[in-house]
Amino acid sequence: MAVYQTAAGILEKLQRKEGAVKTLVYDSGFKNVRQLYALVCETLRYASVLEDIITSSQLLRGTKKLPLSLAKVLVYDLLFGKGLQCGGRWKAVILGHKARLRAELARLKVKKKVSSNEDLVTSLGGGAVGPALPRYVRVNPIKTCLNDVIAYFKRRGYTYLGKARSIEELAELGQKSGKRFLQDLHVPDLLAFPPGTDLHKDSLYTAGHLILQDKASCLPALLLAPPVGSCVIDACAAPGNKTSQLAAMLQNKGKLFAFDLDTKRLATMSTLLLRAGVTCQELANQDFLTVSPEDPKYQKVSHILVDPSCSGSGIPDQMRILADKEESAQSERLEALSGFQRRALSHALSFPSVQRVVYSTCSIHQQENEEVVRDILEQHPHFSLIDALPSWPMHGLNIFPGSSCCLRATLSDTLTNGFFVAVFQRQKKENESHFPDKPEEKTPSCDVEVTTNELEIIQNNGTEAETEPMKITHKSKRKVKSRKKKQKTDKL
Ligand SMILES: C[S@@+](CC[C@H](N)C(=O)[O-])C[C@H]1O[C@@H](n2cnc3c(N)ncnc32)[C@H](O)[C@@H]1O
Repeated sequence: MAVYQTAAGILEKLQRKEGAVKTLVYDSGFKNVRQLYALVCETLRYASVLEDIITSSQLLRGTKKLPLSLAKVLVYDLLFGKGLQCGGRWKAVILGHKARLRAELARLKVKKKVSSNEDLVTSLGGGAVGPALPRYVRVNPIKTCLNDVIAYFKRRGYTYLGKARSIEELAELGQKSGKRFLQDLHVPDLLAFPPGTDLHKDSLYTAGHLILQDKASCLPALLLAPPVGSCVIDACAAPGNKTSQLAAMLQNKGKLFAFDLDTKRLATMSTLLLRAGVTCQELANQDFLTVSPEDPKYQKVSHILVDPSCSGSGIPDQMRILADKEESAQSERLEALSGFQRRALSHALSFPSVQRVVYSTCSIHQQENEEVVRDILEQHPHFSLIDALPSWPMHGLNIFPGSSCCLRATLSDTLTNGFFVAVFQRQKKENESHFPDKPEEKTPSCDVEVTTNELEIIQNNGTEAETEPMKITHKSKRKVKSRKKKQKTDKL
């Protein structure tokens, strides 16, 4: 019963505008956050259908003490969810009305001339916030390959519809029922499943063969495109989805330096990378701004990803939280964030051998995106923007010449979370561009010397990676974590 009561409480708080769904779910203290979140979201999606059925069945007339919010959650689970699992004394009441509720559902479908539940939701304006986000799944080439994953899902009863030719085709996944999936048209190794597909318990996911990652968040690593064996920095790396994607592009060769300030996120990342079979990384619990470009260790770094902390306004729930905030508090926050974003990006461009830097945020604010890029381009004239994905349909806001090279993403335009990406490329020296026959300057390869310094233990050995989480350098404390702590990390 607890899950129903908690979900009902959240629906009431939402009505009183006391917060966004995700925040209320996390703040509820309920143990199974995923179950609660799914129940609240689905009840909200079916809200109009549920209200209609509850009214026409007169459910509340004979059960005056049953609050509408709780009735909605219970009826949702009875008719559209897993069936009432628990429900205390209300379970018997709802089950007593089962035949009537079912009859009202059937009547509503006839009235709306639809046969499926999904069509019914759509006909009543459910999910009117926009198209539903497909469940994007990135295949991890370190552990498997696209064809094997496609064959696996076919064996599990899914129909493979081939490679999507348009974003509309991806959107159709959410409009029809059934177990179907497509290959994405922009990101290789990315599959799209119908919205709401839950693969968290799938054995391919738990074994690290699949990474559940939004399509837009696959773009930064894809566009950084480090050659196999090169030397790369992931400046703000945790929890590491992009790091594992970069490692796959490097084919685990070369060197991937990953920094993050947050110890907890870094520990989660360590587990995630281990599961994904990443072995070319060196993690450090360090402020990227304190990483010296003069340090001989980073002399060969040719590619840097800067995916700094941002407002998160591209993530639907975050958008609502932000909208609820006072305007002044919001603008102060954006100013502080964009200050850090500028410093991090500028710092990345100051590494001596860096050829390409990708800057990305999951924000929709111009202040964190185009304005940062514009200012940094002015400060670093040796870099220019390139349009690294011409087929992408949405571009940067036109606030400076060349802003169209930036990529933007939104749910309605690209069927992804809100996102922003800019690709900075070091301009060729003048004499190089005058002599087109001159061979391309090679990306310095990163035959990294692995230091034997115990304090900076680099996890470079695949066999060891099978048994232990990778080690993290703590620049500030310069201490090797105790074995006990590592075991704790392993459990995360
Ligand atoms: C948007 S998240 C990165 C997500 C990550 N790239 C991924 O794909 O999983 C931003 C990260 O930047 C980290 N961060 C913030 N300030 C930092 C700094 N000065 N140096 C390094 N990391 C920092 C935060 O702890 C946070 O984990």
